[in-house]
Amino acid sequence: MSIDHQTRLLYPLNQFYQEKVMTRNAKIRKAISDVMKTVTSILKEVEIQEPRYISSLVQNENGIYEGLRVVSSTEFEITLFLNQMGVFNFVDDGSIPGCAVLKLSDGRKRSMSLWVEFITASGYLSSRKMRSKFQTLLLRAVEKNQQQHQQQKTTVVKALQDSNSGEVKLQVFDKFSVILIPAFKCSGIWPRSAAQWPLPQIHWPHSEVVAAVKNEGFSMLSRENPHFVLGKQSPTSENDAWLLCFNDAENILLSGGCRKTCLSILKTLRDRNLDLRDEPIKNYHLKTLVMFECEKHPREMDWDIACLGDRIIGVLLQLLSCLQCRKCPHFFLPSVDLFAPHSPLTLDSAAKAVWALTRQIITNPNSLAEL
Ligand code: CTP
Repeated sequence: MSIDHQTRLLYPLNQFYQEKVMTRNAKIRKAISDVMKTVTSILKEVEIQEPRYISSLVQNENGIYEGLRVVSSTEFEITLFLNQMGVFNFVDDGSIPGCAVLKLSDGRKRSMSLWVEFITASGYLSSRKMRSKFQTLLLRAVEKNQQQHQQQKTTVVKALQDSNSGEVKLQVFDKFSVILIPAFKCSGIWPRSAAQWPLPQIHWPHSEVVAAVKNEGFSMLSRENPHFVLGKQSPTSENDAWLLCFNDAENILLSGGCRKTCLSILKTLRDRNLDLRDEPIKNYHLKTLVMFECEKHPREMDWDIACLGDRIIGVLLQLLSCLQCRKCPHFFLPSVDLFAPHSPLTLDSAAKAVWALTRQIITNPNSLAEL
């Protein structure tokens, strides 16, 4: 894009950031702070019932809850890190894309594990069993909370259980949904299914950052596999598997330059213009595509604030292309397609919406004031 066009976009983008992004973020921060009072008390109750599910939820020095992710402005995911994965081996043979299993180490007795009753006959620590127990505890804690609020005749929190997956979501103030995910943190190791990263021909990021990312590692989440192909039933063995999550590693990659600003603007554009039926475009797709844009533009100067417009347009065009090809690979796990759960029809209509938005920004940057 020409320098002239770049500068034409910069002012409206800056305005968009000041007005729309900051408003969105302030609203979400307020929602998180309100919702977390209830979530914290529910988790306290869970912990009283079953001390192994000790809450790891803490606010860092900036007041940010670690482990909380914003899925959309009314939907939050919270990872609860459990203790003592110790006696298991991490087995990541790629047989279940995006997942790995935890197998009892040779010579270790199941009784040596804190999680003994969740180990299957073949020695796997079952993600499904651990989740199911946790969800029973959650339901009980919500019931207790409702009893406490009965006198005030208010219901602050409800538990919604998905009839297919059994997944329990908390609904707070009838508006916000919160998913709580038991997990193990795996620092200092890097999964085999992500071993190809970084590709030798790609000159981003710097080797020191690669080392920091690999050292940060990943998490193993106990949750339904969201990558399943539409219409395919998940085999029972897959339900025992743990979902790989690279959230913290990804956040390291996105630091520096205008990368975070670029992602914040894209998320706000999504919330306001691309919040489509069945939600084919989520914040995580945008995060993924910003990382691919970093690979395409590896120099730090490409992420100078002056290039923000080009990077935003670049990501939107890549999103369009992915929707048209009906494939969006996971950044670290190439065998995982983030669009797999969506029908071609949903992806096609999302492509139209993305093109309409991108075209408007390219042809008339000032229209950002209305977007
Ligand atoms: N937030 C929070 N605690 C978290 C995650 C997010 O308080 N654990 C806040 C963020 O600070 C932000 C708002 O929720 O103000 C929306 O977060 P997000 O959707 O992640 O948007 P970003 O623009 O990426 O947020 P930020 O740049 O502030 O990280």
